[in-house]
Amino acid sequence: MTATPQLLIAWHSQSGTCARLAAAALAGARRAEGAGVAAGRCEDLGSVEVAAASGLLLVAAENAGRLAGGAKQFLDRVFYPSIDRDLVLPAAVLVSAGNDGRNAVGDIERMLKGIPFTPATEPLIIRGLPRPEDLARAGELGEALATGLALGLF
Ligand SMILES: Cc1cc2nc3c(=O)[nH]c(=O)nc-3n(C[C@H](O)[C@H](O)[C@H](O)COP(=O)(O)O)c2cc1C
Repeated sequence: MTATPQLLIAWHSQSGTCARLAAAALAGARRAEGAGVAAGRCEDLGSVEVAAASGLLLVAAENAGRLAGGAKQFLDRVFYPSIDRDLVLPAAVLVSAGNDGRNAVGDIERMLKGIPFTPATEPLIIRGLPRPEDLARAGELGEALATGLALGLF
C-alpha cells in the first residue's frame, strides 16, 4: 500500500503575520483529500520532519532585504541532511513582506535549488497586513499543494 503523501508547512514569524498566513494555508491543505498535512515553526523542525514529508511549503518574511533569519536558519539546518538523503521534494514559497519580498523569494529559491528541491508553484508574496482575500489566497495555495501531492502532480 502506498503511503499517503504529506505536506509540511514550515513557518517563521516575529509579529504573527506569517503565523496567520501559515494557519490559513494549513486550513486550506486540510480541505484537500488524499494528503496529510503538518505545520510547525521553523525553529521546531529539522531534517527528520523534512525527510518524512512529500512536499514543503515555507512561509516566512523578508527582513532587511533578506529572508528572515529564523527561516534561513531552518534551511541552513536541513540543507546537507537533505542532500545526504537524496531528497527531492516539491517545494513552494509564501513570503510576507511590507512592500517588496522579492529578495526573500530569491534567497529561498537559491537554497532550495541547491538541495535540490523542485518548485511546485509560483512563489506567492503577500504585502502588508493580510486582508481576507490574502488569507484566502494562502488557503488556496495550501489546498493546491496538498491536492497536487495527492494526485501525484509534482
Ligand atoms: C526588522 C524588519 C525588517 C523588514 N524588512 C523588510 C524588507 O526588507 N522588505 C519588506 O518588504 N518588508 C520588510 N519588513 C516587513 C516584514 O516583512 C513584514 O512586516 C512581515 O509581515 C513580517 O512577518 P512576521 O512578523 O510574521 O515575520 C521588515 C520588518 C522588520 C521587523
